[in-house]
Amino acid sequence: MGLYLGLMSGTSMDAIDAALVDFEITPLRTVACTATPFEPDLKRRIAALIESPDRVSLDELGQVDVAIARAFAEAAMALLDVAGIPVGAVTAIGSHGQTIRHRPDLSPPFTTQVGDPSTLAEMTGITVVADFRRRDVAAGGQGAPLLPVFHDQVFRNDDEDRVIVNLGGIGNVTILSRDAPVTGFDTGPGNRLLDAWITEHQGLHFDANGAWAATGTCDPSLLQELLDEPYLRQAPPKSTGRELFNMPWLKSRLGLFDRRPQDVQATLLEFTAQTVAAAVRQYAPGAAVYVCGGGAHNLGLLAAIARLVAPNRVASTASLGLDPDYVEAIAFGWFAQRTLAGMTSSAASVTGARSPRILGGVYRYA
Ligand SMILES: Nc1ncnc2c1ncn2[C@@H]1O[C@H](COP(=O)(O)OP(=O)(O)O)[C@@H](O)[C@H]1O
Ligand SMILES: [Mg+2]
Repeated sequence: MGLYLGLMSGTSMDAIDAALVDFEITPLRTVACTATPFEPDLKRRIAALIESPDRVSLDELGQVDVAIARAFAEAAMALLDVAGIPVGAVTAIGSHGQTIRHRPDLSPPFTTQVGDPSTLAEMTGITVVADFRRRDVAAGGQGAPLLPVFHDQVFRNDDEDRVIVNLGGIGNVTILSRDAPVTGFDTGPGNRLLDAWITEHQGLHFDANGAWAATGTCDPSLLQELLDEPYLRQAPPKSTGRELFNMPWLKSRLGLFDRRPQDVQATLLEFTAQTVAAAVRQYAPGAAVYVCGGGAHNLGLLAAIARLVAPNRVASTASLGLDPDYVEAIAFGWFAQRTLAGMTSSAASVTGARSPRILGGVYRYA
């Protein structure tokens, strides 16, 4: 069997998503998927690394790198256990790791994902392909988003222009117009600010179904402040992360006005929806929109996107046969397969790199 195991943790740090996939049949078959939450202590240490890098020692960085790999290995083994699949049946793991810093626009540019692949290979007994982003950055690209090439492979359709919207911590779009090569870029925050705001005011990890946002009213002047962010006007290729869209960014725009927290949440929801809808209107005005990532569960957010792109269709990628929660994890299994086959899996039309590259490094188990 040619099974591949994809492992992903995004900027939300909600869970390690794992997917076991068979690519030898078309369409691909997802054998099993699991989402394993991070231990609270590890999540806290990763958040400290991301949010206060100047206060973290090199020893801590080194140890978090290995601790994440151990958590990834446990997630992988738990998935195989659930699926009843032996380690020997898995050709390779494709591990995204955890992004702790993404700086494609510094000089020199860099992007850093941690989750030591050597530890992952040792603990699972499986060959690991990892570190998928840095080669694209070295080739002059953004190193993100990577998903559009996979979306192009599985979601392109001859009868319909499509936009795939991935609503993770950051939002990104993939434009699949029938007459053009794939493009895509990060639109701005997906769930990141929604999560951070409700955590601060309600102590919850996220606003389930956008229910709290629905109790508030969008504030047009705050919305305008948010939409004035220069990143949104920048032409693609572009990518962003928690380095920009974070609580200090939001608070600097809230100013001194006394706003009800639920109104801020409603405004953030509208803000995310508008950044996504703007991408659809500008790059694929008639396209059907398919949403994946955890934000696909936020019914309030989906309704706002649907209102803004009407009369275009808005649906989850489930209607195209892929569980919206696992599209990214499945993609990293696919990236591993491509790399081992010596095939490229980046697109210059997406990231702005000089040309496509074979992504990632291979850590053979045997
Ligand atoms: N039922 C839900 N309602 C609203 N938001 C949800 C729901 N389920 C998940 N989410 C959002 O999805 C996020 C996780 O999405 P995910 O695609 O895993 O992002 P990442 O790739 O950044 O880890 C959560 O932090 C939360 O904001
Ligand atoms: Mg996640």
